[in-house]
Amino acid sequence: MNKITIQTPDDWHLHFRDGLMLKETVPATARCFKRAIVMPNLVPPVTNAKMAMEYSQRILEARPDGSDFEPLMTLYLTDKTTRQDIIDAKQAGVIAAKLYPAGATTNSDAAVKGVMQLYPVFEEMTAQDMLLLIHGEVTESHIDIFDREKVFIDQQMTRIVDDFPQLRIVFEHITTKDAADFVEAGPENLAATITPQHLMLNRNDLLVGGIRPHNYCLPVLKRQTHQAALRDVVARGHKRFFLGTDSAPHEKHLKENSCGCAGCYSAWSAIELYTQVFDELNALEHLEGFASHNGPDFYGLPRNEGSITLVKEDWQIPEQIKLPTGNDIVPFHAGQTVHWKLASS
Ligand code: NCD
Ligand code: ZN
Repeated sequence: MNKITIQTPDDWHLHFRDGLMLKETVPATARCFKRAIVMPNLVPPVTNAKMAMEYSQRILEARPDGSDFEPLMTLYLTDKTTRQDIIDAKQAGVIAAKLYPAGATTNSDAAVKGVMQLYPVFEEMTAQDMLLLIHGEVTESHIDIFDREKVFIDQQMTRIVDDFPQLRIVFEHITTKDAADFVEAGPENLAATITPQHLMLNRNDLLVGGIRPHNYCLPVLKRQTHQAALRDVVARGHKRFFLGTDSAPHEKHLKENSCGCAGCYSAWSAIELYTQVFDELNALEHLEGFASHNGPDFYGLPRNEGSITLVKEDWQIPEQIKLPTGNDIVPFHAGQTVHWKLASS
């Protein structure tokens, strides 16, 4: 197959950042995605309806002329989140709330220390039919970084899923066979997103032959057997797994640093790279489900109208991009050849 047309896709997990950066990130996503679930980990985090609506407005203003791209806003859960915050957010149009364990990743210092404390909030989310999005890693310093997702499943995720059978839960950017198996064996109210980097790479791509800071993200890349399990579950077209790029830009100097930031800026090439992966897996017939159907079906939103077409044609991702801030950013897979190209949208 040299050409594929799919219903217009959505990105169910990304980071746009704020301010001048939006002029780069919003168009890069809006070029092919109709909607995106926008992560709330700004400084300060988006913790109430008012902040979410103001942020949404800034994103809308950064759209290219004529774009009908739609940001889907999320709330950042903290120890101080109340039932009323959930009610107000739902009324304002916020559709999900994000659980970051404290210290798990970029700007998560304000996040939750004990999940049990949030049970009243989860009850209200169930009543309001708001989705719970979980960054599934424990953060205790004695737990090995490569084990943090698995330990989170054992210590917290299993319990949350058991205790809230009516709450729709997305296990975000899964990275392990354990998580894939857990979601696959789990109930209908549990789903997962998968990034392009976790389908394409494993920890050798991070550490062999030198440290590669642009492949560093959280949860960190795992061993090849885990990568293979993620590829396997998407190749089988499982309906509760869908596209979430976790596109997470950090300026070049913050990645190429003695303490480099976590995050891959994949918006420039994500849909093309997913297509390439499905092609490698001989599973192109499942690309549309993963990119365009499974997400809206799980979220209870309509599938998009329109379509995009990708053609099998080589092109090169730029080595770096100039941001509106004047600084450079290195996109994911920079300088490398991609075998699929967006032809029209
Ligand atoms: C994200 C970021 O930079 O905001 N980084 C990452 O490596 N994925 C945070 C996140 O999604 O956990
Ligand atoms: Zn993320």
